[in-house]
Amino acid sequence: MMQENVSLQSYNTFGIKAHAKRFKAITNVTQLKQTLKQEEPALILGGGSNILLSNDVQGLVMKNEIMGIEIIEENEQEAIVRFGAGENWHKSVLWALKQGLGGIENLSLIPGTLGAAPIQNIGAYGVELQQVFVELEAVYLKSGRRKIFRKEDCQFGYRESVFKKRLKGKVFITSVTLRLTKLHKLNLSYGAIGTTLETMGITEPTIKDVSNVVIQIRQSKLPDPAELGNSGSFFKNPEISLKQFNTLKKRFPDIVFYKLPNNKVKVPAGWLIEQCGWKGKRVGNTGAHSQQSLVLVNYGGATGKEVWQLALKIKRSVNEKFGIMLTPEVNVIK
Ligand code: FAD
Ligand code: EPU
Repeated sequence: MMQENVSLQSYNTFGIKAHAKRFKAITNVTQLKQTLKQEEPALILGGGSNILLSNDVQGLVMKNEIMGIEIIEENEQEAIVRFGAGENWHKSVLWALKQGLGGIENLSLIPGTLGAAPIQNIGAYGVELQQVFVELEAVYLKSGRRKIFRKEDCQFGYRESVFKKRLKGKVFITSVTLRLTKLHKLNLSYGAIGTTLETMGITEPTIKDVSNVVIQIRQSKLPDPAELGNSGSFFKNPEISLKQFNTLKKRFPDIVFYKLPNNKVKVPAGWLIEQCGWKGKRVGNTGAHSQQSLVLVNYGGATGKEVWQLALKIKRSVNEKFGIMLTPEVNVIK
């Protein structure tokens, strides 16, 4: 059913008060195609956990509610599972754990839907979606044509895919298929996972243990959107050249960094932002979180424009101090 003038405040984890001129929940592909014949969406909405609404949406918001989980192939080693794009990501991780299927336990507690997961190739604690991704199905908004995108079509990168670039705003993702394993290969490369397991006295961890530890670590530093509006990391962690890094290291010997294979160095944006004095700082109803300065928060009543103004100020100060241009990870909806 098409609704008019709908508040989006409960549909975005930043808790921004914005309205959609028209709003429709999409529950299946036939209904999607019929709706597309009448009107293209101005915005496709999943869980609203990676957007900043800077204005009211003047057109149609389509809320993805295409559900269903189906094992489409299975053998002793693995299962190929197709998820409706409206399924909740974390609930799907819990479902997989219950079936004894591994591969996404490190991605526990990431908010949002399956359909949005490939868009920025979600990642956490040493694992990215692309490692388990098989294919997705999408419908072009203009033509209504369906297309399967295999892994090589998606151009996955760090918080990147073709759906954030050339195909941005052009397709509606309707299902996502993942390859999950029965022979578990745990990824404990992220330091805090190993040390937390150790303090818990767990020497032979299961995928469920890893999931529990990831949940524990996340809860200890990331604000819960139900209590404090946010969209996770606001910016991406910048990748700079080794040359620029070496110059910075002389000026800032304590700089936190990760060496990448391609002669590049990743510097955590949270560290850069903290060094500029933003950690825990409040500006009006917005601020940089006190535990994790990469997470911008809405203390209540902030507009999308106010959050964006804060983001610009932070970006400017990081550029002035370090000569590094941060780029947003969150999708800013104009
Ligand atoms: P939305 O915010 O609804 O949409 C995001 C973008 O995708 C929008 O541009 C939207 O138009 C588009 N879109 C959504 N669904 C579709 C579709 N079916 N077809 C086409 N386009 C679509 N991300 C990580 O990678 N790692 C983390 O560790 C992480 N932690 C987070 C922690 C918190 C507390 C929060 C609030 C966010 C975090 N995120 C993280 C970001 C976010 O959870 C992910 O990006 C998630 O995949 C977004 O899903 P969503 O359904 O909420 O997307
Ligand atoms: N740091 C600071 N000050 C801060 C925040 C962080 O000095 O205010 C330092 C930390 O001490 C640590 C380093 O920066 O040494 C990295 O911090 P953290 O481990 O918290 O991870 P992150 O790089 O800030 C990334 C992802 C998260 C993901 C975690 C865990 C990006 C943009 N963010 O955060 O993803 O959950 O790693 O893998 O890559 C998201 O995308 O929304 C998100 C939350």
